[in-house]
Amino acid sequence: MTWPEDAESAVEPVVEPVVGVPAGGGADLAEAVAPDGSPVAVYLVAPGRDDAALIDAEIPFSASVLDLGCGAGRIAHQLADLGHDVVGVDESEAMIAQLRDDVEGVVTRIEDLDLPRRFDVVLLMSHLINVIGRKRRHALLAACARHVAAGGVVLVQRYPVGWLRNLDVQTGRIGDVEITMSVAGWQADTFSGEVVYRLGDRTWTQHFEGEAVDDEALDEALTQAGLHRDAQLDAAGSWVRARPLR
Ligand SMILES: C[S@@+](CC[C@H](N)C(=O)[O-])C[C@H]1O[C@@H](n2cnc3c(N)ncnc32)[C@H](O)[C@@H]1O
Repeated sequence: MTWPEDAESAVEPVVEPVVGVPAGGGADLAEAVAPDGSPVAVYLVAPGRDDAALIDAEIPFSASVLDLGCGAGRIAHQLADLGHDVVGVDESEAMIAQLRDDVEGVVTRIEDLDLPRRFDVVLLMSHLINVIGRKRRHALLAACARHVAAGGVVLVQRYPVGWLRNLDVQTGRIGDVEITMSVAGWQADTFSGEVVYRLGDRTWTQHFEGEAVDDEALDEALTQAGLHRDAQLDAAGSWVRARPLR
């Protein structure tokens, strides 16, 4: 997709919705902004076909998929359409309220998730892994490890470090949504920035902070969670496939 490299999600944002607007599933809910600053209306209309195709190519037919931080179901719905059995998890009730009936939704923080089942595929996309701090990274990956089946895979999407370091301001488009992402304020490996979403005449601004996660940091975090990296799925190094060590 053509976010500025996936400018979609950021971590630890300070929310500053400028305008919110109803887009279906209940005006109040669609006007909402998730605790991380993601506008529901944007994630309702943004297409997810490219990411879903990348994921679909990596997983078995009719896989059970756990989509962590699923938002309004941008990817979950596409995967369900491709024949997968999808459960979506999000801390935002407003996001989960947008899920179709064929995708089970769970409202909780990923770190607290403890479902009594395991999945062929666990998705940790939208750069959630770029949270600041090892402890928080570990909590996210531990949730992945708790829910992946013995022969299953965890697919993680992060900001490619080189891309991130060189980013100043970049504008891209995904469907009807124009996204401008700017990153500044580097302090060692942590950064802060801003994403501006434009949809028609509506605008939302999301401030965020995050941490660059290079291969070494990712491998350390994966190992600590009982996982190991076994493939990189794209040239940029954004998508990584991991498997349980057990
Ligand atoms: C940028 S949106 C992306 C949604 C979806 N993955 C997509 O690509 O369309 C990020 C989502 O992750 C959710 N999220 C972020 N951190 C979370 C956490 N720790 N636990 C649960 N949900 C979280 C937010 O509420 C938001 O809906």
